[in-house]
Amino acid sequence: MRTLTEPAARAKTNLDPAHWDFFAGGAGEERTVRGNEDAFAGRRIVPRVLRGVGRRDLRTTLLGTGLSMPLLLSPTAFHLLAHPSGEVGTAGAAAAEGVVMVVSMAATQPIEQIAATGAPLWFQLYPQPDAGFERHLVERAAKAGCRALVVTADSPVFGRRERDLRNGFTDLPPGLACENMRDAAGRRRDIAMDPTLTWSVVDRLRGLTDLPIVVKGVLHPADARIAAGRADAILVSNHGGRQLDGAIATLDALGPIVAAVEGRIPVLMDGGVRRGTDILVALALGATAVGIGRPVIWALAAGGPPGVRELLAHLRSDLDHALALAGAKRPADLTADLIA
Ligand code: FNR
Repeated sequence: MRTLTEPAARAKTNLDPAHWDFFAGGAGEERTVRGNEDAFAGRRIVPRVLRGVGRRDLRTTLLGTGLSMPLLLSPTAFHLLAHPSGEVGTAGAAAAEGVVMVVSMAATQPIEQIAATGAPLWFQLYPQPDAGFERHLVERAAKAGCRALVVTADSPVFGRRERDLRNGFTDLPPGLACENMRDAAGRRRDIAMDPTLTWSVVDRLRGLTDLPIVVKGVLHPADARIAAGRADAILVSNHGGRQLDGAIATLDALGPIVAAVEGRIPVLMDGGVRRGTDILVALALGATAVGIGRPVIWALAAGGPPGVRELLAHLRSDLDHALALAGAKRPADLTADLIA
């Protein structure tokens, strides 16, 4: 795999055009979708030399989960639309490559089947107004073996995805469903966005589970400071440009947030990460790990689970190579002075 654009091109050929648009698209004019990638393209690395980089080590531990590299699969919906192996296929690749998969609440397969792959899993949650159902969901994810709860905070209402509106793509095709959106009796439930949510939701979830809580979708340093007092980690994210079009690129949000958090909790980021050098830049600017969304969908749609493994192996080797050339032996050696 020379670049990640090859699987994207193959995915586009393989996918129904409305499904391609669902995965690729974002809110409004997609300024933020483009902005995330452009922010990486605008940075330059100032490498160090003659630093003895013969033995490099990418391993890292995040909220108690050991990872082969500081990368996680950000939660993305509807993997069965991308490939018949669905989330189980993605999880199998994550297990084989030793990275965390954050399972979307809008996954199309049951969490128990995804967990059976042995992948380290975190569970993404849109907090639900029905307290009993929310408790059931959280308990189900924990029982299945998920090791952290990722609470998506950037969605008081659903983003305006213009491609989906144009295509009339409003729901999954017959036969597919969000398989974890079922109550204890097995009845289907819709995902509800709750615009009344406040920071107290983190305390509410603490009352439901001992799992570490990651708040996803933080972009403002003031919110990062609040999160640092309540959550176990933050994921700097603009939902891949799918919520507020015009929102700041996540790479631009990262530095001020790292400064605000003052090392109290890990700061993760996603949005626009496409190469090992992108991972290097985000780590140097203070991220503990980075997430990828669309690249996983493209790899899955283009090549099934082996395609996702190839993507992850490629990113690991690309990051390792970039570390060597920048004069670093491990992610922790990367510092902000390496980025212009
Ligand atoms: C997402 N994202 C997302 N986030 C979330 O918290 N819950 C979800 O169910 C989804 N679903 C989803 C579907 C699709 C098709 C995409 C592209 C994204 C956002 C995702 O977790 C992540 O923040 C972005 O995808 C990261 O940006 P890149 O890597 O796609 O540029």
